[in-house]
Amino acid sequence: MDRYVILGGPTLQGEVQIGGAKNAALAILAAAVMTNDPVRIENVPAVTDVNVLLKAMEQIGVKIERPDRHTVVIDGSKIESNIINDEYLKRIRASYYLVGALLGKNRQAQVPLPGGCNIGVRAIDQHIKGFSALGAKVRIQHGCISAEAKELRGNHIFLDKVSVGATINIMMASTLATGKTIIENAAKEPHVVDLANFLNSCGANIKGAGTDVIRIKGVERLHGTEYAIIPDQIEAGTYMLASAACHGDVLVRGVIPRHLECITAKLCEIGCHITEYDDAVRVSAPEPLTSTQVKTLPYPGFPTDMQPQITVALGLAQGTSIVTEGIFENRFKYVDELVRMGASIKVEGNMAVITGVPRYSGASITAPDLRAGAALVIAALAAEGETIVEDTRFIERGYEDFELKLKGLGARIEKVSSDRELQKARLKLA
Ligand code: EPZ
Repeated sequence: MDRYVILGGPTLQGEVQIGGAKNAALAILAAAVMTNDPVRIENVPAVTDVNVLLKAMEQIGVKIERPDRHTVVIDGSKIESNIINDEYLKRIRASYYLVGALLGKNRQAQVPLPGGCNIGVRAIDQHIKGFSALGAKVRIQHGCISAEAKELRGNHIFLDKVSVGATINIMMASTLATGKTIIENAAKEPHVVDLANFLNSCGANIKGAGTDVIRIKGVERLHGTEYAIIPDQIEAGTYMLASAACHGDVLVRGVIPRHLECITAKLCEIGCHITEYDDAVRVSAPEPLTSTQVKTLPYPGFPTDMQPQITVALGLAQGTSIVTEGIFENRFKYVDELVRMGASIKVEGNMAVITGVPRYSGASITAPDLRAGAALVIAALAAEGETIVEDTRFIERGYEDFELKLKGLGARIEKVSSDRELQKARLKLA
């Protein structure tokens, strides 16, 4: 099991290049099976969630080529089965995107029930509601979700809850349904828009993505395309918060600044200096951070996937801050680990009350999920002394070359896979 060993202290300085958005890539790669023509997708991040999805797609006969590290060519013309048995696939949440894609294309799909990060109950009732409204029979049995339909017909669907996954799944299935579908109370996240743009580039007719109401006119078939995935809002935000917590001066390159506004607004509030360029954002934090209040909300609100990172930064800010988690009910599990590093945080229900401390202290800690893992690494970078982050697997699900990019900013971090390597790394870092 790999671990990070981190010697905290240095401020972060320099430039970091952001990769393609993991959550857009997962939706778009799944949607690419909906055409029988080859699809070339660029700017795909090299993260393990993407590899798991591609492996499962190969198992049902999808041909996959990877001409380079960030490009995937998908040929879904020879799908042999609409039933996916891959046990491993249930570890990633996005596995259920193959239900929307295969149901739309072949009117049948069966996929192991999604897993993903350990951040709370993750219902799928809105996906089921959407598929059923299109005329599919949906069943949950033997740990799988299955959906089939003789015919898919467009419908008017009002989501009871804003859900990224349900919006994406319904959009995919209805793209190849007969007639018109309207999704009301749709999610507006950048990756929902990216998927709609991708499907439209394959010949779909989707309007309104990025607003509350998405209108889809079903088409008979989709064709091949070449498409580049948008930059990762959360990866970018993570390096912005790392700069804030470490009193750094970091230029985060290759981003869409508009997607980061919910994060830059909070960073300004807590005393960071932000400069926006066409495709980059510079974050510097020369002064001590100050406290604020944050509530996570669907886009364009402050993202739940940035909640642990901002909590870590606010743990070092002067005064008392309050962070309220508005999306998932169990996303403060990492706080126990942060408290072991000297943070003063009390969690009550979905709210964390944070009293800033001047410094964290290094400890041996475990990452409970992907974003919390990245946040704990930020805490370690800002801490006094050595921190060991046990088990890097969660972090590698969503961050490409995390330790290399941080090293490029001057962080003292090494990934090690044995006690011997740990001793060597300690000598190197000292
Ligand atoms: C997506 O998850 C992301 N995952 C998550 O990113 C992200 O945290 C989340 O959206 C919110 O932005 C992917 O894109 C693969 P939701 P998703 O459906 O689609 C409830 C990361 O770190 N809900 O928008 O599963 C649900 O329980 C990950 O990259 C229902 O009640 O999120 C939650 O409280 C973690 N019924 C809320 O809605 C449903 O049918 C939002 O969930 C569906 C969801």
